[in-house]
Amino acid sequence: MKYLGINIDHVATVRNARGENHPYPYLLAKHAIKCGASSITIHLREDERHINKKDLKIISSIKKIPLNLEIATTFKMLKIALKYKPDYVCLVPEKRMEITTEGGLNLNKKKYKLKSIVNKLNKSNIRTSLFINSSIKNIKLAKEIGAKCVEIHTGKISNLVKKNKSFYKEFLNIKKCAKYAKSLNLDVHAGHGLDYKTTKILRKIKEINEYNIGHFIIGESIQHGLRNVIKKFMKILKSK
Ligand code: PXP
Repeated sequence: MKYLGINIDHVATVRNARGENHPYPYLLAKHAIKCGASSITIHLREDERHINKKDLKIISSIKKIPLNLEIATTFKMLKIALKYKPDYVCLVPEKRMEITTEGGLNLNKKKYKLKSIVNKLNKSNIRTSLFINSSIKNIKLAKEIGAKCVEIHTGKISNLVKKNKSFYKEFLNIKKCAKYAKSLNLDVHAGHGLDYKTTKILRKIKEINEYNIGHFIIGESIQHGLRNVIKKFMKILKSK
């Protein structure tokens, strides 16, 4: 079974551009699940520059939405996660000035802190995943830390595919890591920069069972939703 998680951070980006309420991330989250998505991802950044605590509060209260909360590896964010109890937590690195999550966690440097955070999440029955760059060393560390899943950062392969460059070496690297992770009983997810083409490529790796996609899905939805919205406006303008 392959699961599709939808990251709706950029719905909040559009909402925040006007400082008002529209579009509503929680409505989008409900709609995405109705349309067949397996889960909703929101990244509550420490500066709340897109998703904010109010969004987390509403979305986590809707039981029909399987929620994956991305947070930085701090005890402050852990406290928030334990308060709102999402179904899943994905721990990610966070840099204030980055446009998006640029790479995976440095598991070696943060091993003891991560062990403590993951342990508390595990005790609360929250499935924990670590966002990592694809390396065997990272998989071993993720297991040692006690995570249930790893999410492999797919930015590198996505960039190669988009630039029409050779991606096969990176594909094999991801495949090797996914197989190794599965052999250690870790669930394997993939995310970052995915579009139709890269997802078609990565779905060939049978060990990857969850794909978390944000920017491309929101962008495509805007492009493909335009027809319906214009039709609705034309109906309003033509009505007597
Ligand atoms: N997975 C994780 C852990 C992320 O942090 C992000 C956002 O960077 C995504 C998936 C989705 O990435 P994108 O918006 O490029 O699809």
